[in-house]
Amino acid sequence: MEMKDATPTPHIGAKKGDFAPTVLMPGDPLRAKFIAETFLENPVLVTSVRNVLGYTGTYQGKRVSVMASGMGIPSIGIYATELFKFYGVERIIRVGTCGSFRTDVKVFDTVLAGSASTNSNWAAQYDLRGTYSAAPDFQTLLEAYQTAQRLNIPCKVVDILSEDNFYSDDPDQFKRWADMGIAAAEMESYALYCIAKRYGKQALTILSVSDSLVTHEATTSEQRVHAFTDMMKVALGSIRE
Ligand code: HPA
Repeated sequence: MEMKDATPTPHIGAKKGDFAPTVLMPGDPLRAKFIAETFLENPVLVTSVRNVLGYTGTYQGKRVSVMASGMGIPSIGIYATELFKFYGVERIIRVGTCGSFRTDVKVFDTVLAGSASTNSNWAAQYDLRGTYSAAPDFQTLLEAYQTAQRLNIPCKVVDILSEDNFYSDDPDQFKRWADMGIAAAEMESYALYCIAKRYGKQALTILSVSDSLVTHEATTSEQRVHAFTDMMKVALGSIRE
């Protein structure tokens, strides 16, 4: 049965068909604009509701979109659900930053999130009698990993934590996660991975390490741009139609 077209949605102003099968998703709307204007050919703005900018263009001839997620699980939960459920998007690749918990994951490293743990209650809505383990789409993960190898960009697959709180009341809490092998924290992937699986779609998170909770290393803007470009090359090289 064909579902009634529910677009535009409450949070996305685009029409059905305006998005490519793959949507790259940074947190920051201005970063979405920057990605569209820097890496895509012929980017067209398809939505700007709440200034959450979304564009569709092409990369090496392949149609691709980029739209911001905002910060945190509730925000990416809204956009990922509407893209998968109402716009027919097949794949969301989050491109973001994370804070490292471990000395073997250094600032500016590019990492792929092979799993996401969480301190959020997101999965309670699925009414499962247990703890849901959020994982990416393996094919997308493999293709991103192979893209990094092909481009000679150092890249590790790591386990991450999607936190509800950027500011923690307990500054040592991260060490317990590190003891469980968790390499870094961000605030969105657990929900993104759940939603993709729920709708039979694909998701992957690619992160650039922006800071370290262990070493508190300082970074320059030039270094950050270089690391950001590495992450984008891995993401853009993994696009399928
Ligand atoms: N915690 C959560 N999100 C982040 C961090 C962090 O330390 N660094 C960059 N994004």
